[in-house]
Amino acid sequence: MAATVRRQRPRRLACWAVIAVLLADLLALSDTLAVMSVDLGSESMKVAIVKPGVPMEIVLNKESRRKTPVTVTLKENERFFGDSAAGMAIKNPKATLRYFQHLLGKQADNPHVALYRARFPEHELSFDPQRQTVHFQISPQMQFSPEEVLGMVLNYSRSLAEDFAEQPIKDAVITVPAFFNQAERRAVLQAARMAGLKVLQLINDNTATALSYGVFRRKDINTTAQNVMFYDMGSGSTVCTIVTYQTVKTKEAGMQPQLQIRGVGFDRTLGGLEMELRLREHLAGLFNEQRKGQKAKDVRENPRAMAKLLREANRLKTVLSANADHMAQIEGLMDDVDFKAKVTRVEFEELCADLFERVPGPVQQALQSAEMNLDEIEQVILVGGATRVPKVQEVLLKAVGKEELGKNINADEAAAMGAVYQAAALSKAFKVKPFVVRDAVVYPILVEFTREVEEPEGVRSLKHNKRVLFSRMGPYPQRKVITFNRYSHDFNFHINYVGCGVRIRL
Ligand SMILES: *[C@@H]1O[C@H](CO)[C@@H](O)[C@H](O)[C@H]1NC(C)=O
Ligand SMILES: *[C@@H]1O[C@H](CO)[C@@H](O)[C@H](O)[C@H]1NC(C)=O
Repeated sequence: MAATVRRQRPRRLACWAVIAVLLADLLALSDTLAVMSVDLGSESMKVAIVKPGVPMEIVLNKESRRKTPVTVTLKENERFFGDSAAGMAIKNPKATLRYFQHLLGKQADNPHVALYRARFPEHELSFDPQRQTVHFQISPQMQFSPEEVLGMVLNYSRSLAEDFAEQPIKDAVITVPAFFNQAERRAVLQAARMAGLKVLQLINDNTATALSYGVFRRKDINTTAQNVMFYDMGSGSTVCTIVTYQTVKTKEAGMQPQLQIRGVGFDRTLGGLEMELRLREHLAGLFNEQRKGQKAKDVRENPRAMAKLLREANRLKTVLSANADHMAQIEGLMDDVDFKAKVTRVEFEELCADLFERVPGPVQQALQSAEMNLDEIEQVILVGGATRVPKVQEVLLKAVGKEELGKNINADEAAAMGAVYQAAALSKAFKVKPFVVRDAVVYPILVEFTREVEEPEGVRSLKHNKRVLFSRMGPYPQRKVITFNRYSHDFNFHINYVGCGVRIRL
């Protein structure tokens, strides 16, 4: 990021306007009455609404389900979303897009783009030389950026919310993973604009979950600080968050409950999807093995068969969470040949052994960033579908040294509910009991500028200055003013994250 600043007459420069855009996901007022939230996961989304006379509610989709796959099928003249698109993944793997949020706001050389190509070779990603990003090339005539695809999904989420509310909706709070950087957040805002949504706020999904937890336990929050850890392993990633709940004195409304994000740790590629991909690879190997000597082609080269195997891997992962073994079974997997193979939970755990070793990582990072130890954490609460895998719970339980893990919130829907509570609070069309939310900066932000200085012998040289503007886990939103009192001309400064190079591993 770079900005040129015009020097003001008093030798003081407030760059809070820039920072406000950076840090305070901005809000605005509006006339329409109902407001919505979208909890945008990498595999599925949940939508919630509030309208006058109706409390917060999860929106049912057209199939009357409470969650909707984040999936789009793009045909020449038609688009399909949600469950109908997911149903087409097998017939039409190339035109059915999933997990595309992993590409948002990324240049083509970003390791996450390479990972996407490796995971989903059925999709052709073409290079956009102007933006240095990638597009989905569906056909020679049809290409869409990941932001456009997300725009279509958000538009669809709005139509679900409008049908459910029986009125038009414009205002929304959308969740993003806490680890999303500025480029990724902008990509979501751009997608929302394409969908005609007015974004009241982008809220970190861990904060939205913590808010929902707090709102429903308002009575238990008092002047004694209570620290709660949320461990959220979803499909695409894992985030561990430490939250302090406490009542605080506010200027406007006296004593009010508050949540403060104290520590965050994450692993951007650890989640249920990677487990399913491991299982799929295992099943593909078994199928090839069963057909050895028949001059059959490698099943991995058949996108439809691979889509069937991924669906079966997903089912298998779920069943193996409750059973010691299960028969994977697909009729007519390839060349009209059926597939059947027994997979045990032990085998599954071996396939994912290195993934389970990564379970404690985010816990340690969260504790470190909060400068806390485990004794200070009162309870650990599980969030996210992949925490249902028994091995994840086993490893986590050991890592946190508690007697048990809390499963006492409706974990799947907490982020959507927290986000819609925030939407109602921001919309002013509703009277909402105050709940103070203090989020924290995940990536420290640095301001850099170069200044000419005079050395003792009268030689002039350039001095490069760096100052940490927002430190890690500093409260957010917040405003900062810096004074540049040695400047007499216009000058440039740069605002960057501190050392956030991209590293991923699988
Ligand atoms: C958004 O969805 C509506 C249906 O609810 C549709 O009529 C409209 O064309 C869509 N807009 C975009 C930009 O896709
Ligand atoms: C605050 O609440 C906790 C549990 O909700 C309780 O154990 C504690 O005694 C309360 N403290 C005060 C000062 O009321």
